Amino acid sequence: MDTSDAIPPADAREPLSADLHRLRSLTSIKWTMHDREVLPAWVADMDLPPAPVAVEAVERLAARGDFGYNFDAAVKLPAAFAAWQEARHGWRPDPGCLRLFCDVMQAVQVALWLTTEPGDGVVIFTPIYPPFLSSVTGTGRRVVDCPLDPPGWRLDPNRLADAIDERTRAILLCSPHNPTGRVFSVEELEAVAEVAARHDLLVISDEIWGDLTHRDTCFRPFASLGEQAASRTVTVSAASKAFNVAGLRCAVAHIGDGRVSDGLAALPDHLLGAVGSPGAEATLAAWTRGGPWLEATRDHLTAQRDHLASRLSDELPEVRFSLPEATYLAWLDFRGLELGEDPARWLLENARVALSAGPDFGAHGRGFARLNFATSRKILDEIVDRVVTALRSR
Ligand SMILES: Cc1ncc(COP(=O)(O)O)c(C=O)c1O
Repeated sequence: MDTSDAIPPADAREPLSADLHRLRSLTSIKWTMHDREVLPAWVADMDLPPAPVAVEAVERLAARGDFGYNFDAAVKLPAAFAAWQEARHGWRPDPGCLRLFCDVMQAVQVALWLTTEPGDGVVIFTPIYPPFLSSVTGTGRRVVDCPLDPPGWRLDPNRLADAIDERTRAILLCSPHNPTGRVFSVEELEAVAEVAARHDLLVISDEIWGDLTHRDTCFRPFASLGEQAASRTVTVSAASKAFNVAGLRCAVAHIGDGRVSDGLAALPDHLLGAVGSPGAEATLAAWTRGGPWLEATRDHLTAQRDHLASRLSDELPEVRFSLPEATYLAWLDFRGLELGEDPARWLLENARVALSAGPDFGAHGRGFARLNFATSRKILDEIVDRVVTALRSR
């Protein structure tokens, strides 16, 4: 079915609209991976246009033909990130400890590479964003699995302490957590800090989702717990999720742990490359002038989340779902419907919607699928309609 008939195009200039005609013209993997009639709700890009301040920053660069060596925005980014974190989350990172990376997962892998050896253990709280698993196993490190349990997805300090063995070297934290959308409480984070201190572990805290909390949820950066925690932590972040600019490749890491800063200092100076000027300009614009757009976007995402929850509970109560406190991702438990280990595959074939496959998030993802609801109400409704119709007509 061609949904361009079913879903009239919205005005593409509306910052919070998602127009199918625009979306189908994109070259992003979200909109090119599947057949045209499939509605994609998998990879974590928003269907909303990127933050206008970021678009304008890149447009201005292009209009000037300003594509020469250009580190102006990159030089300004550490101070901008520090001010943004302080204003939004009450954490004042030391700009002297900040370093730019091409993306968040590069920073994660570099920190692991510099501080661990093949065979060393890295704690991961599963289900988890799949590149966390490949970052560990792909370099011969070992996943030390510490599962979170539904429906609360709370971090269990005893389970964490029990999981650690003598070759565990690091904790790879995703905070807020993808795919469950949990925003860990200060108590949960302090329990992680306590275990890390006891076993002298590096903590890598991926806080890329920190700006996309839903209302009434307070996100606490791990390094803001105190000096002790900060001194064994690498915090990684980016504007890519909150401002929808993932393709521009720009991230920042706060290196609080001397083992990582020493390792970085010893690397050949061009080994890790440098951030491009469009990514740096867009990120700088986001962190200095993007606040009002972000607030409107968060309101929209919270309304989308609540709408999805209400439709699922009315029409598909067998699909269990804990409201995410952050992110635009719904971690859906299809186990009550017997769609097999990978419900996303069944839904792609039978409902023509593309969700992320639960088993990719670790063994505890079997029977689950992840749905990205950062789209328009119309497209979200069409996705839910297709899922409901397919499941009812089984
Ligand atoms: C937790 C988490 N970390 C990292 C990334 C990817 O970031 P980057 O593209 O900057 O590596 C994502 C993307 O969805 C994510 O959810």
